[in-house]
Amino acid sequence: MTDTKKSIHGEWSSRFAFILAATGSAVGLGNIWKFPYITGENGGGAFVIVYLLCVLLIGVPIMMAETMLGRRSRQNPINTMITLADEAGADKNWHYLGWMGLIAGFLILSYYSVIAGWASAYVLKALTGSFFGADAITIKALFDDFMASPMQLAFWHSLFMLATMLVVVRGVNTGLEKAVRFLMPSLFILLILMVAYAMTFDDYYDRGIKFLFTPDFSKLTGNGVLTAMGHAFFTLSLGMGAIMIYGSYLPKNVSIAKTVYLIAGTDTVVALLAGIAIFPIVFAAGLEPAAGPGLIFQTLPIAFGNMTGGWLFGILFFVMLVFAALSSSISLIEPAVAWLVENKDMSRKQACIWSGSITWLLGFGTIFSFNLWSEFKIFDKTVFQLLDYLTANLMLPIGGFCIAVFAGWIMKQQHTEHELDMPNALSYQIWQILIRYVAPSAVFLVFLHVVGVL
Ligand code: PFF
Repeated sequence: MTDTKKSIHGEWSSRFAFILAATGSAVGLGNIWKFPYITGENGGGAFVIVYLLCVLLIGVPIMMAETMLGRRSRQNPINTMITLADEAGADKNWHYLGWMGLIAGFLILSYYSVIAGWASAYVLKALTGSFFGADAITIKALFDDFMASPMQLAFWHSLFMLATMLVVVRGVNTGLEKAVRFLMPSLFILLILMVAYAMTFDDYYDRGIKFLFTPDFSKLTGNGVLTAMGHAFFTLSLGMGAIMIYGSYLPKNVSIAKTVYLIAGTDTVVALLAGIAIFPIVFAAGLEPAAGPGLIFQTLPIAFGNMTGGWLFGILFFVMLVFAALSSSISLIEPAVAWLVENKDMSRKQACIWSGSITWLLGFGTIFSFNLWSEFKIFDKTVFQLLDYLTANLMLPIGGFCIAVFAGWIMKQQHTEHELDMPNALSYQIWQILIRYVAPSAVFLVFLHVVGVL
């Protein structure tokens, strides 16, 4: 493989552009919507510790591997696996890993867009003063009414999908890069404002911070550990080719290792800051941290409706959520779009219309989970819960496991060493131990534990 090879879709204009894009992919609903409610459901501190360990020991080395695979081949994830397996003299079946990633992307985006639609709707609700003076019962009724209306959910889901497609259709530089250059700095400013706002609450330290950082391992179950590990993959956008495709647009001279530390670090800090911003408000309003996917929608508006400055902060918060979601959704669909352009000879526009329409249709499974099909369960889960479990807890960790095995055992060492370009030999050795032994066995052990073998 020559070092001058470039993706046919273009290239990030700089290392910073890649950092913004990959951080944009990583920081999303996972950090602000999902992390708080799964932490709430799994008892707080102990869950957070397992999640942090997973990010460090499994997520970071796999993120380096995934970026490296993309940059080496400069193609969509399916073709990447074909090319690199060929280069390493390995079995062709590795390309199924690319397929699984593409499918996971569709499935995740189908529900991701529905939730991002909730956030968009709440921007309007905040703006029109719907939370003003409301108590817990009113806010819950507002949320329940919204969930009960497939039409409303479909409208906002459609709007969000359209926004995603409008960015993606413009391509790597004028679409993705331009969007994240605006979205990410705005997101950070809004988040800092929210944390500052949460610090004005009386028991911000005693209840919020302590809940996040005081571990009580008796509250952690086997499934909680799986959820923490699955979330490490989800929040870093790993295991499905999103980071791989972003890696394929990465200029040659950029150090993957240093860049990945920064992205994973920023993502983790944002999740913790979101927790720090949200839990004090939840506790101050006397609400349950284990309220599930509706947590931030059922709790935060009460605070926004009753506190000084709440109108403005309510708007800012939900705008921030939509921004975070948009910079992630574009990375969920990009692997499929790139595949259609490279392999099916489609224009970017056609590829966007196809992949966008499929995802949009799939989204109705999630929309109906909250109303018409709320009683319809498979394995005791609604369609939305099943999609979430299947992707975050199974497909992403399995994808990550395979990426680790491929990068650690199948690729030639001289190629990985050359691509990663670590600052010194020791860093490379540490990466190799993590990617060969630690990450795959950790994923495997967690699976064994969940199916009851361990
Ligand atoms: N990392 C995103 C979040 O935390 O919201 C979600 C995500 C994006 C998952 C892209 C997977 C992915 F490939």
